[in-house]
Amino acid sequence: MKNIVILISGRGSNMEAIVRAQIPGAKIAAVISNRPDAAGLAFAASHGIAAQVVDHKAYPSREAFDAALAETIDAHQPDLVVLAGFMRVLTDGFVGRYNGRLLNIHPSLLPSFPGLHTHQRALEAGVRVAGTTVHFVTPTLDCGPIVIQAVVPVLDGDDEAALAARVLVQEHRIYPQAVRWFVEDRLSLTADGKVRVTDEPAGPAGW
Ligand code: GAR
Repeated sequence: MKNIVILISGRGSNMEAIVRAQIPGAKIAAVISNRPDAAGLAFAASHGIAAQVVDHKAYPSREAFDAALAETIDAHQPDLVVLAGFMRVLTDGFVGRYNGRLLNIHPSLLPSFPGLHTHQRALEAGVRVAGTTVHFVTPTLDCGPIVIQAVVPVLDGDDEAALAARVLVQEHRIYPQAVRWFVEDRLSLTADGKVRVTDEPAGPAGW
């Protein structure tokens, strides 16, 4: 059984998709938010998952917050830490501590449109496709090795909300997929920083 800790800051719909996927061999050990008012906490608690808050406002520095967050995470002995709409920039020390076991989802086809206001910037750029990316987290924001992406069309008349909603459907599909690969020991980060995804184990001969 692999322990998974999910970090959120708000709605938590990606966290919900991962919980609902009921991935065999995965235990969602905790959902932790940096915001006490994150809506996703109620969903986690109602599903019997430890729902905790480490409020970044209570700490004098990024380092102090990350240290408290890491302590809270590590109490759950995680095999994997999943950032699901976690809207805090993490220190290099924090990222290094979870190297190879820290995933993030971003609502663009990275390396295009990292950072905030992703959909608005995609619309302004006039791209005809948009999408979402799951990647391993490295110290540079939204820049880590790519695990899986999904593409959606940008349609005439799209506004930010319409495009975000179309992308979100794909987020809810590919994030549980990436977590499933990790839990099945089919996804890893190699020593030289490359993503390795191995094929599904073959069924018995003759299948
Ligand atoms: C998602 O669209 C996620 O990709 C994005 O925030 C949203 C969270 O929604 N994350 C980022 O922009 C991180 N750079 P959710 O709380 O419903 O999962």
